[in-house]
Amino acid sequence: MAKRQTRPAGPHILYVCRTCPRYEPPLPAGEVGRGEALANRIKDLAEDWPLAEKIRIRAVNCLGGCLNPCNVSLGAPGKTRVRFSRLGPDDAPAVLEVAGAYFANRDGVLAPEQVPESLRDRLSALSPPQIVRGPMKSVRARSGFVPAQIARIGDS
Ligand code: FES
Repeated sequence: MAKRQTRPAGPHILYVCRTCPRYEPPLPAGEVGRGEALANRIKDLAEDWPLAEKIRIRAVNCLGGCLNPCNVSLGAPGKTRVRFSRLGPDDAPAVLEVAGAYFANRDGVLAPEQVPESLRDRLSALSPPQIVRGPMKSVRARSGFVPAQIARIGDS
């Protein structure tokens, strides 16, 4: 059996899509979209967050989940990247909670019990790190956590 390769965990980043919802009509001037509102809420909450020094928060323009706004993603070198979709500003506390679980997790493959219940059906993508070889199936098998959307894509 091949020895499992790991890299030391580097900077952890919580990405928040500020552009969502991309496909809804433009807002009146001065109004803030849901993605921007989610990013703002997360940043506000993170001011008193014990992990603020460990996990960077970055507002970005797209996370590839445009059809299911709003989206956040967690990533770190050597870890599986995870994305959650269909979020709103009220989900900010749960997003920070799962970011903490992701930080503490060795490889980023979260078990269901490590994901706040309100987010469990909104995990929309797992992207293996480059060091992980083989099909997506291997990541799913390790996690035991197969969101319906991923199962449909991977099993087709
Ligand atoms: S615009 Fe938000 S994920 Fe693409």
